[in-house]
Order: sequence, then structure tokens, then C-alpha cells
Amino acid sequence: MTETTGDTGHNAAAFSPQHDDVFGRIAGRYDVLCDVFSFCLHRRWKRRVAHMIADARWERMLDAAAGTGHIVRRILTRSPGIADARQIIVSDISLPMLAIARCKTEHLTRKLDIRQLDAHNMPSIESGSIDLYSISLGLKICDRTRVLTEAFRVLQPGGEIITLEASTITLPWLHTLYLAYMDFCMPLIGRLAAKGDASAYLYLLKGVHDFPCADDLAQEMREIGFEHVTFERMSLGIVAIHRGRKPARPAHARD
Ligand SMILES: C[S@@+](CC[C@H](N)C(=O)[O-])C[C@H]1O[C@@H](n2cnc3c(N)ncnc32)[C@H](O)[C@@H]1O
Repeated sequence: MTETTGDTGHNAAAFSPQHDDVFGRIAGRYDVLCDVFSFCLHRRWKRRVAHMIADARWERMLDAAAGTGHIVRRILTRSPGIADARQIIVSDISLPMLAIARCKTEHLTRKLDIRQLDAHNMPSIESGSIDLYSISLGLKICDRTRVLTEAFRVLQPGGEIITLEASTITLPWLHTLYLAYMDFCMPLIGRLAAKGDASAYLYLLKGVHDFPCADDLAQEMREIGFEHVTFERMSLGIVAIHRGRKPARPAHARD
């Protein structure tokens, strides 16, 4: 089993998997629900992240809160054979989500390292052993300070982090309109699509409301120690992709 604490300090959605196995319950419908809620926009966002990862230089990557494996599926489509040459750890706290990830990637490769891990605390991943860490749509339902700090720990010096997360539309009136739409539609569609169980979407909704804007998240990443932090907004700022690096070891400290 994974070690978890249920601490919700910087957890925009105030979500604790120990108290509610909501993603386990909706795992079988997760992919369809993503399409419904985002009008399929999530496909573009995740393709962009996957292409960034596939085109980056790394030997061992870890996708945290990977869900049903959307990111890794797109990496494997972009770069068939990539898992033969490099190690890809696909991790999530929910076993039902990981079971679907396994099922949906088996025709592409059987070489993924699929593991149940709590992104807050991954004792089985050695410090400095990962050279690319990614997390998509997971930061808002975790304590992001703890998750980013853990990402910093497992990354090797010079290693890269790529995050995809809900953000703030830069036109305030449009953002207000977007939140009003989400407040109205998300619980409604969530209840219909999830057969009465809208709880996942209530967490996600709270996460969307309370997550920091792209500039503030970049600043939080810098405070944790990441450098060269940049971000790009997608779909007018509904989401943002952040990239950063753990500082490389100074030349005099290298072997
Ligand atoms: C909104 S889904 C995102 C899934 C996938 N990354 C994507 O982009 O579609 C959030 C995922 O985070 C997982 N999760 C929630 N808390 C977690 C934690 N503490 N550690 C690891 N995964 C967690 C959930 O099980 C769920 O699969």
C-alpha cells in the first residue's frame, strides 16, 4: 500500500483519497467524462504535453496522478518504441485508474512501469533518480506544495518538470463567465454522466475555483527551487502548461 496523510494544506480541491475513493468509482467512465466536460479540448492540451515530453531529453520519466494514462498513451503514439529504450513510470494513487491505464496501453507496449504511488510521498522512488517528471490535472486535487517538493526531490539535478493544470482566463469577465458555466454545468452533467455520483466533479470544480493563476503557480515553483520556470496558456488560459528545471549541479561539484 502507499503511504498517505490526507493533509489538504495547499490542496485547492480539499480532496483526500483516503476519505473518498471517488476516482476509483468513476474510473470506467473517466475518459468519456473528460470529453464531455471539456468539449474534447483536454485532448489538445494533453497532446501538447505529450509532445513536449516525447521531444525532451530524458532516460527515466515519471507521470504522477496519471489516471487512465492519457499522457503516456499520447507519448507512445508520438514516439512508438520509446518505452523500449527508456523507462516510463506511470503512477497514480487509484488502482482502478491504473488498471485502465494498463489495459489501454497494452497494444502499444508492455514495458511501462505501472505503480500505485501517492504523489505527496513516493518513498520507493530514489532521490535524484528521475530526469523528467510530469503531472496533468492532478495538482489541484493534491497538496501542490508537497507534490512539487516531492517532484523536486525525485528529479536529478538538471531534470525537468512539466505540469498541466487549470488556470485563469486572462480576460476577467470571460473567466467569471466560464466559472459561472462550470458552476452550473459541472454538477449537473457530472450527476447525469456519473450516474448520480457527481462528487469527483465537485472536487474538480472547487479545484478550478481555488487554483492559483499561472504567474502565481510559476512563483510557487520557483520558491520550491525550480529554475527557468516558464508557462504557456492554452484555450485562452483555461489551462496552463508549466515547465521548470531542478538546478544542475555546479560544475565544481560534478565528478
Ligand atoms: C483529474 S485526474 C487526472 C488524470 C490524468 N493525469 C489526466 O490528465 O487525465 C486526477 C488523478 O489524480 C489521482 N490522484 C488523486 N490524488 C492523488 C495522489 N495523492 N497521488 C497520486 N494520484 C492521485 C486520481 O486517482 C486521478 O486518477
